[in-house]
Parts: sequence; C-alpha cells; structure tokens
Amino acid sequence: MALLEAQKIEKHFGSTKVLQDISFSLDEGQALAIIGSSGSGKTTLLRCLNFLETPDAGVISVGGKVIFDAADPATQQESELREKRLHFGLVFQNFNLFPQYTALENVTLAVKLRTPDKSQWGTIDARGRELLAQMGLQDRAGHYPHQLSGGQQQRVAIARALALRPDVLCFDEPTSALDPELTGEVLKVIRSLADQNTTMIIVTHEMAFARDVADEVIFMDGGVIVEQGPARQVIEQPREERTRQFLSRYSGS
Ligand SMILES: Nc1ncnc2c1ncn2[C@@H]1O[C@H](COP(=O)(O)OP(=O)(O)OP(=O)(O)O)[C@@H](O)[C@H]1O
Ligand SMILES: [Mg+2]
Repeated sequence: MALLEAQKIEKHFGSTKVLQDISFSLDEGQALAIIGSSGSGKTTLLRCLNFLETPDAGVISVGGKVIFDAADPATQQESELREKRLHFGLVFQNFNLFPQYTALENVTLAVKLRTPDKSQWGTIDARGRELLAQMGLQDRAGHYPHQLSGGQQQRVAIARALALRPDVLCFDEPTSALDPELTGEVLKVIRSLADQNTTMIIVTHEMAFARDVADEVIFMDGGVIVEQGPARQVIEQPREERTRQFLSRYSGS
C-alpha cells in the first residue's frame, strides 16, 4: 500500500484551471521529483497536499486513511487541519526562518508549542542539535538567520521540517534562491536524506539531481501530469514530445 495517494486532484483559481486530474502515489522511503515549466502548477500541488489550498476535487490519503475528500465535508473540518498538516513537512524556496530566533530555536519552536510539558524541552533541544549536526550545522545552533549563508539557512529550514517527524517531506525548489556553490551543499543534504529512505516530494529545476536522487519523476505542464515514471527513464528517455521539449532546454546543464 502506498504511503501517500492523491487521486484526481483539481484546483481552479477563478476561471483558471491550475490543476486537473492529478493522480499519483508515493511509497514509504521513496523520493518523487516534480519537474515542469513556470506556471505549470507545481507549487499549487504542494500547497494542496499541505492544506494551504483546498482542492476543488479529489482525494488525498496517507497510510490508507482518507485525510481529504473534496466530496466529503467531514474530511475538511478546520479543527483537524493542524493535525493533518503534520503528515507533511514543507521546505520553501526562500527558507522562511523566523529572523528573531536562533537556528536551534527555529528548529525546536513548533515542537515545543506542541509539548506543554516543559520537562521534555531538554530532550527537544537535544534532538534539535542532533538534526542541526545532521545538516552539518553543529556549530551554528546559536546563530540568527542573518548570521547564516543562504545554504545554511536552508539547511536549518530542512532541520525544522524534520523536527516535526512528517510522513512526507516536501521541497519547493529548495535551491533556486542559492548560488551554485551553496546549491551543492543543500543538494548533498537532500541526497543523504534520500539515502536514509526519507519519503520526499521535491519540486526542482535540477534535472541531473532529479535523475540521480528521485525514484520517480512527474513532469507537469499546464496543470496536468504529462508523464510520470522511473526517474532515469523520464529524464533520459522521455516518451512524450512535451517532456522532450521541456528537457531539451536543460540539456548540457
Ligand atoms: N493564489 C492564486 N490566485 C490566482 N492564481 C494563482 C494563484 N496561485 C497560483 N496561481 C496561478 O496558477 C498557476 C500555477 O502556479 P504555480 O505557482 O503552481 O506554478 P509553478 O509550477 O509552481 O511555477 P514556478 O516554477 O514559476 O514556481 C499560474 O498560472 C499562477 O499564476
Ligand atoms: Mg512554484
């Protein structure tokens, strides 16, 4: 059974259909890369999965349990949203760290808010430090975001997302705001998460990275899935002409 299953997701903004008939599944421990040109609906899809947008149609299941069904209001209760969001962790393009908190505080804040029993906060801090160390940031715990490079800030954001132990970690173009050298250090961290079988969805423009790190690739265009399949096959031997055209823009890079 798939860990995550999305069935026939649709989303409109006004009269614009932004997502249409989006269906895919993701097994535990797998990494899925989503590629596609600007405006194809990639961010909107991640936002739907994270309940930052409400799909107009479709069903989302995690671990075999329906957590959203557009046709069933009982699955859309505001009071349950917060818990449902915990299935997913989201890492944004622009890091979105809290500027007034240190790296460690950024990582532990949400966990502490969920843990009123302060006697456990020492354990939460220890785990926060462990996650920062895993990101290569063991000596940056007390630094504020403005004292960190973009690549370091993004690695703090990844630690923060992992701190809540999501079932699926989602990345929306995690390196597109970074210089090439800082991109490398963030991709390395994501690659090591994949090696540890972290279940992930990665929206990316890094085609070689998608090919090497993802198990499956989805190519989106105009709000639909044009092609999906094993990463190497989709990137190196796409079946659809639209995928070929899109990828030809990246050849040589
Ligand atoms: N809140 C909104 N209201 C109206 N239209 C929106 C909204 N959010 C996104 N759109 C439109 O939906 C379409 C898909 O946008 P989306 O941000 O999902 O694309 P994307 O694939 O993530 O693009 P990019 O690669 O540039 O990030 C675009 O045409 C966009 O203008
Ligand atoms: Mg986007």
